[in-house]
Amino acid sequence: MRVCVVGQGGREHAFAETLRRTADVVVTPGNAGIEGSVAIPPGDIDADLFVIGPEGPLADGLADRLRADGRLVFGPGADGAALEGSKAWMKEVVSAAGVPTAAYRTFDGEEASRREAHAYLETLPPPYVIKTSGLAAGKGVLVTDELAAAHADIDAKLDGTAFGDAGRRIVIEEGLVGPEVSLFAICDGRRAVLLPTAVRDHKRLGDGDSGPNTGGMGCVSPLADVDRATCADLGALAFEPTLAELQRRGVDYRGVLYAGFMLTPRGPRLLEFNVRFGDPEAQVTLPRVQGDLAELLAAAAAGESDDRIDVSDDAMVCVVCAAEGYPSDPRAGDLITGIEHARAMPGVTVFCAGVGPCDDPSTPPGSLVTAGGRVLNVCGRGPDVAAARRRAYEAVRCISWPGMTYRTDIAAAEISPLPPRGGETQRRS
Ligand code: AMP
Ligand code: GLY
Repeated sequence: MRVCVVGQGGREHAFAETLRRTADVVVTPGNAGIEGSVAIPPGDIDADLFVIGPEGPLADGLADRLRADGRLVFGPGADGAALEGSKAWMKEVVSAAGVPTAAYRTFDGEEASRREAHAYLETLPPPYVIKTSGLAAGKGVLVTDELAAAHADIDAKLDGTAFGDAGRRIVIEEGLVGPEVSLFAICDGRRAVLLPTAVRDHKRLGDGDSGPNTGGMGCVSPLADVDRATCADLGALAFEPTLAELQRRGVDYRGVLYAGFMLTPRGPRLLEFNVRFGDPEAQVTLPRVQGDLAELLAAAAAGESDDRIDVSDDAMVCVVCAAEGYPSDPRAGDLITGIEHARAMPGVTVFCAGVGPCDDPSTPPGSLVTAGGRVLNVCGRGPDVAAARRRAYEAVRCISWPGMTYRTDIAAAEISPLPPRGGETQRRS
């Protein structure tokens, strides 16, 4: 089978490497660190299966255009992708499906609606949660204990000054507290088949969850506090009812559903659906999927997925190595050294995200430079989280470039659980 992966980050590198176990793989546009990258638009590529990685092209209808051209595609059409592209619609769908989620209301910039937004906020206890309805590159959610900041955020979003059109519609939610966990299901339009393993991302830039929010600085799977039975319970709570509701609305959803939960003292609540694999969550999940991933995704794309997918019980930890200045202003062009040394270590995989080719003729062929915020995803795999984590950090120490930054506490809490966090007043994500 020939598979075309669409996208250019570490998630797509993980897709490509895992698919390559059984298929020929091309990646468009890919990057200088991903074998098989081609600068050809997806519509001009001859492949038996297209796997679309990021949400942007999905929301933009790439899957629809490829399907209209008779291609087999793993990834929802623009209708299904609205689960991520419109939080207002997502909340409506999951509420209709009976999935437990935070209480909410949606508002727009009309004067009456804006007044109601401010009034609704006053009825809620902290923390206050204000979300852009539209896609905002993962930055559209404000969580704050400060009422004045929440009021100001409502206006900044509705005015379009904070996030353009993405914020002209907002969702105000009940603030929840608890650990977060992500789960994935492979959907074939009728059935959602759970990947029975839980993943935890570390979204803040700095150790101890300090600093600004990012796309994700590292993650770990599986989790001590979310065993297989809990995964199955959470999956049954969210995936199947949502897929049934989508079907009722005429949406033929074929692709990944990514559910982000908060485990609150009153039970699990669905925070978000994404319509794609997480990045870097895919990097610790896809390599552990058992069986033939290409066949599995092709079957789902064709509307006839297997009943059951298994994921190996061993652990993976991913440490994201980022460029100096990430996330606000990452510096490009720094020469990266040590990737091959890291890759030679047992249980280590290095996925390339924000890299470009080095055009200095004095460097060895194939040398890479930084060309994005999150540059490399260094993954360790082992029989348990402690072993996987040790391998990941040993590998990170082989790699360097000027200004390379990474968190030193990825998965630390999985090994020696910390007391519940407190005192944090404001988060942006
Ligand atoms: P979302 O994109 O909706 O998942 O939101 C991004 C992040 O904001 C989540 O990972 C949570 O950390 C936080 N968040 C979202 N919704 C809530 C909520 N209702 N209560 C508390 N925190 C939230
Ligand atoms: N790592 C978070 C995301 O992919 O949405």
